[in-house]
Amino acid sequence: MSEPLILGIESTCDETGVALVRGRELLGDVVATSMDEYARFGGIIPEIASRAHLEAFVPTLDAALAAADVDLSEVDAVAVCAGPGLIGSLTVGVTAAKSLAAALGRPVYGVNHVIAHLAVDELVDGPLPERFIGLIVSGGHSNLLRVADIATDVVELGGTLDDAAGEAFDKVGRLLDLPYPGGPHVDRLSQSGDRGAIRFPRGLEAAKDRQRHRYDFSFSGLKTAVARYVESLEEAGREVPRADVCAAFSEAVNDSLTAKAVQACLDHDCPALVVGGGFSANSRLRALASERCEAAGIELRMPPLRYCTDNGAQIAALGAAAVRAGVEPSPMGFAPDSGMG
Ligand code: KG4
Ligand code: ZN
Repeated sequence: MSEPLILGIESTCDETGVALVRGRELLGDVVATSMDEYARFGGIIPEIASRAHLEAFVPTLDAALAAADVDLSEVDAVAVCAGPGLIGSLTVGVTAAKSLAAALGRPVYGVNHVIAHLAVDELVDGPLPERFIGLIVSGGHSNLLRVADIATDVVELGGTLDDAAGEAFDKVGRLLDLPYPGGPHVDRLSQSGDRGAIRFPRGLEAAKDRQRHRYDFSFSGLKTAVARYVESLEEAGREVPRADVCAAFSEAVNDSLTAKAVQACLDHDCPALVVGGGFSANSRLRALASERCEAAGIELRMPPLRYCTDNGAQIAALGAAAVRAGVEPSPMGFAPDSGMG
């Protein structure tokens, strides 16, 4: 008997993603995004995002089924992102998933979006390591998780106390008058700068209770330090060395992220680190993570970028893992949860 066919639905934020997975094989995966609509607002507008999901869902589903060359009636289970995310966006995906499950007479699995960022690695790199640390970084989250079984045994070790890494990059982009979302622009500029030119503080470096925050991140103090530095130069009528500011800022963020991720691997005897989330596109994160994992003898897994940004494949992958592990389906009455759940 072949493994069950899982339909995965993602609608956490601005991406509408639908994918079909059988076992660990990705058959079809289509993503639509409403990100282009937010440049003029400088941030996501939840109301617009919810409406965009409503419009994009059926065409995205049709395209994914066509890409996978399967009929909807062949689907054995529906997996959907239940949170964390924007509640209006999540509600569109969850309602669609329940409707499809009810019409097909199949179970529905509400899964965690952040954990799904790690599950997707199975589709690319094969079965996940037996024990690993997951680092998930995006515009919405920066988390460290300890994973023994992706479907049943995941412990949150830490997260950001304020801004997510991508969010901090976007804010620094705004400060330097770069277009929204600023993350990729700050990254590009940083590559021609000197990361040692300015020393910005590392988050929680000066925290009284550093042990309690061993696996937590904080980027808002750093962002304020960058703002003060830029303002002081502007007030003095001096030119802001934008590339150096970006390089030094990027170094501070990525130093924290990678040092804590590697520390978590060592503390918890995990021989592998899996990285996911849209911020994985960051050039310095990729370089520092490779360098530090290699030095510590840790296997580093980072899926290609298209599977790091939000997509339906990650949800289908975690749904498939849940079915494989014998996890009970969600009750039909389950509601999305905008928090970490
Ligand atoms: O995962 P994602 O596509 O969406 C969510 O936030 O869930 O992540 C997008 C975030 C944005 O904040 C974006 O500015 C940031 O990741 N980002 C980057 C880079 N590419 C995307 N930040 C820094 N360097 C990059 N190369
Ligand atoms: Zn995400």
